[in-house]
Amino acid sequence: MKDQISRVEKEAREDLAKIDSAEAVEAFRIAYLGKKGKLTELFKQLGAVPPEEKKEVGAELNRIKQWLESSIDEFRKKVPQGGAPAEMFDETLPGIRPPQGSTHLLQQTIQEISGIFSRMGFETVEGPEIETEFHNFTALNIPLDHPSRDAFDTFYTTHGQLLRSQTSTVQIRVMKERKPPLKIIAPGRVYRPDTVDASHSFMFHQIEGLMVDDRVTFSDLKGVLHLFLRELFGSQTKIRFRPHFFPFTEPSVEIDIQWGKGWLEILGAGSVDPNVFDEVGYDKDIARGFAFGLGVERIAMLRHGINDIRHFYENDLRFLRQFV
Ligand code: DAH
Repeated sequence: MKDQISRVEKEAREDLAKIDSAEAVEAFRIAYLGKKGKLTELFKQLGAVPPEEKKEVGAELNRIKQWLESSIDEFRKKVPQGGAPAEMFDETLPGIRPPQGSTHLLQQTIQEISGIFSRMGFETVEGPEIETEFHNFTALNIPLDHPSRDAFDTFYTTHGQLLRSQTSTVQIRVMKERKPPLKIIAPGRVYRPDTVDASHSFMFHQIEGLMVDDRVTFSDLKGVLHLFLRELFGSQTKIRFRPHFFPFTEPSVEIDIQWGKGWLEILGAGSVDPNVFDEVGYDKDIARGFAFGLGVERIAMLRHGINDIRHFYENDLRFLRQFV
């Protein structure tokens, strides 16, 4: 009998150490103190114990019973219902932050650029991504059969519409709606059927700019874009204008900034072609203006040392969190 008692006591001690939930406390209680519990069974055998030992064995069993009961009580207080033991909850640990969104680097770049132009009096406007041939090509002085259409080729819908391949479409929309003076920039997505690689994407972002009045000259273009590039890249930035061709501007330039030992193309720009003024119904003998366009991804990549355009679109938090 004594051996049995000490075996049960030892088992109880081991089982108690394993308790880690409210269910385990209850299972333990039933296993030892339930109707057929191990300790209950020992109590049942008390009748068969010789009278001279009865007192001692009875006291021993009661001692164990009390120990088990108070242990069970203690566990019930510690273990929250259905949860982990209270002692495993460390209230000094930092809380769990709910995930919080932030502005995407491309959007940050657009906001920063818009901010610079806004301080120069330019208003930010938007236009649709699904466009007509008129806004994307014809009105921009790109006739149907002109080879420069290839450079701005795009995706077509089955209903004769297309995804704009340049934000220059917004120039046309704004000029058709309003009269000069105009000072606008138009950020947004554009689409081209390019094969995706580290520097190409079938979708990317541009910012278009347009200033029209009756006295705007090429000097205004130079002044505004100089100021813009120095605000964006730093006041020491060296800038170079290179002659170029765009169908919608005449003359046209590409603008480079000095980058290390070389030059990097940043902007396309020029004086608005009189044919464009004609298309939107402005008097081409009076209207004068300049326009420009830039790629947002390119600027963000340069400024942050990003080597693959695909990072912008993959929603990899390891990338995005660097720019919060
Ligand atoms: N639309 C041109 C492009 O996608 C960029 C551009 C160049 C816009 C010159 C302009 C401009 O307004 O004057 O490559």
